[in-house]
Amino acid sequence: MQNHILAVVSILKDSKGKFVSGEKISKKLSISRVGVYKIIKKLIVDGYKIERHKKLGYKLVEIPFSPEDLLKKSSFLAKIIFLKSTSSTMDVAKEFIEEEKNYDKVLIIAQQQHSGKGRLERKWFSPKGGIYFSLILKPNVLPYEIFMLNYVFSLSVVETAKELYNIEVFTKWPNDVVSKDNKKLCGILLEVDSEIDKVNYCIVGVGINVNIDGKFFKKHSLFATSFYELTGQKLDLTEFMITLFKYIEKNYKLFEQKKFKQLSEFWISHSSTIGKEVEVQTLTQTIKGKAIDINSQTGALLIKTSFGVKEILSGDCIHLR
Ligand code: BTN
Repeated sequence: MQNHILAVVSILKDSKGKFVSGEKISKKLSISRVGVYKIIKKLIVDGYKIERHKKLGYKLVEIPFSPEDLLKKSSFLAKIIFLKSTSSTMDVAKEFIEEEKNYDKVLIIAQQQHSGKGRLERKWFSPKGGIYFSLILKPNVLPYEIFMLNYVFSLSVVETAKELYNIEVFTKWPNDVVSKDNKKLCGILLEVDSEIDKVNYCIVGVGINVNIDGKFFKKHSLFATSFYELTGQKLDLTEFMITLFKYIEKNYKLFEQKKFKQLSEFWISHSSTIGKEVEVQTLTQTIKGKAIDINSQTGALLIKTSFGVKEILSGDCIHLR
């Protein structure tokens, strides 16, 4: 039965959002049409959204996220807390750290958030269909090196998109992943608790627009897009997360080994920022010029301005040309 269930899911996935008749599935698997119907009913109970049409058959609309499969396939993660809905996974992560001793590599993931947080006190829209998680880490690095985690996570999203959907997306300084037309696909929020020379913990918050309809961004006037918009398909969130964590594990190893030069060069090779005319707004000033490089020790952006090269550690970056 289990093999047949997996086979039906795979046939429906391969049909890329189109209907597949019960007859076709039954012939492919050499089972009766009643057998196919029973499997479809079981999948619906398990959280799959499947449209049924008398003549056309079945169409896969949504695959549920499976934290069990992610934990099984990812040797990196220690524990997963999966929430249907929460205020912000950042808050849940903080509560977890206060209550538990072992919090390294614990993942808090939510289907939706009603008070999602972005950088600079902004709101992070978190409707169902996206990926919203906070990963707690206890890396043995210096506090100023934590910035490099932006690169670890944004690069991993870029590599995931290439492997799974063969699409090219780009890292944008400091903490974004964007599409070819510069629309936001993913944002990263770092919260750190540290002493002068030691990091106690870091919470990496990641929001990825996966299965979100373009109408949502329009309605909220967001310059953003989703992987659904880019591929034209509703994507499997479990598959996305398993692949993402394969790359996070690889890139996090480089980070722990302090191979920052390698990480920065890799980030630059996928960046849409370097080489562009930019305007960066920091807390105290606005800097205009050409983004020319990254300081591989701190992750700071180097901007060539008419007053010389300026090094910016954090800020809001707009691409001008
Ligand atoms: C940004 O680009 O401003 C960063 C956005 C970070 C959003 C994620 S979603 C999961 C985690 N929980 C939050 O409330 N925020 C981060």
